[in-house]
Amino acid sequence: MELNIKKIKEQALKEIEEIKNSQDWEDIRNKYFSRKSGELSKLLKDVKEVSSDLKPKLGALANEIKSDITNALDKKKSEISQDDPKVEKDFIDVTLEVEKYKLGHLHPVTQVQTELEEIFKSLGFVILDGPEIESDYYNFETLNIPDWHPARDMQDTFFIEAKDKLVLRTHTSPVQVRAMQKYGAPLRCVVPGRVFRNEATDASHDHTFYQLEGLMIGENISITNLVAVMKELLSGIFKREVTVRLRPGYFPFVEPGFELDIKCLICAGKGCSVCKQTGWLELLPCGMVHPNVLKYSGIDSKKYNGFAFGLGLTRLVMMKYGIDDIRLLQSGDMRFLNQF
Ligand code: PHE
Repeated sequence: MELNIKKIKEQALKEIEEIKNSQDWEDIRNKYFSRKSGELSKLLKDVKEVSSDLKPKLGALANEIKSDITNALDKKKSEISQDDPKVEKDFIDVTLEVEKYKLGHLHPVTQVQTELEEIFKSLGFVILDGPEIESDYYNFETLNIPDWHPARDMQDTFFIEAKDKLVLRTHTSPVQVRAMQKYGAPLRCVVPGRVFRNEATDASHDHTFYQLEGLMIGENISITNLVAVMKELLSGIFKREVTVRLRPGYFPFVEPGFELDIKCLICAGKGCSVCKQTGWLELLPCGMVHPNVLKYSGIDSKKYNGFAFGLGLTRLVMMKYGIDDIRLLQSGDMRFLNQF
């Protein structure tokens, strides 16, 4: 019997060695371990029957080869499951938790920009785009700011190459001229976009921020039209009636030029820290397009006129949501962004 046990072991190990796939593996395991007909199971049963003086020795031997064969089978299984695609494919762990998808959302600036675009589309404006790397010509010259003009100092500029006179656009206004050159008059357009200033950053200044330029050119356009469109825009964004006032403001490309203020929405005009106790918030520089700008744009200033405005999109987002540090908007900090 001892010899028989050793023979079974040898044979089993040899057969296990030759296993090629999971089917072979199942067959061999059954051949030895099947409860009823497995060779090893039978052998273990036989050992129970032998006389008590032989039992300890044969029993120990039988158990030893059982564990040898089991080990060999385990080892083979891990080998074949690595190269047997069927095993991998067939294996589905139904107890695994289903992956939860985290849905992102648009950046708050993009959200407000989209809202503004909808409002302007409903007023018959088209949405336009322009280059962020702009020529000195469009950024300044055509906007009635010649080389020698002190108004150039109003906007700290990133100059790219002195030779080609390229700049990172300091405002979205250059698209006014580009749009009029391309589409002529009459024209209603808004231009949301990123602009750059060579500024020292702090809670209310960043080197990169967003504006939304607006332009309406037609016959007999008046300041009343300008105020009406501004009020429509602001009440659309703040979802309530807003009170506005115009103050004179200087920009070389508009005449007359204004600063449009809104009555502070936080304190309703009583005075608080957000409006610096004045009750008013400066929000929208605007004015009637200067005839020189129309001339550069190829528009007959005797027939057509119009208004333009430069909404500080980033500033508007800060006011809408009560954000007190502009730098948060570009920080990419998820703790901040997840709140919108
Ligand atoms: N482009 C100006 C700026 O960025 C804003 C402006 C636009 C003023 C249009 C008047 C009309 O400061």
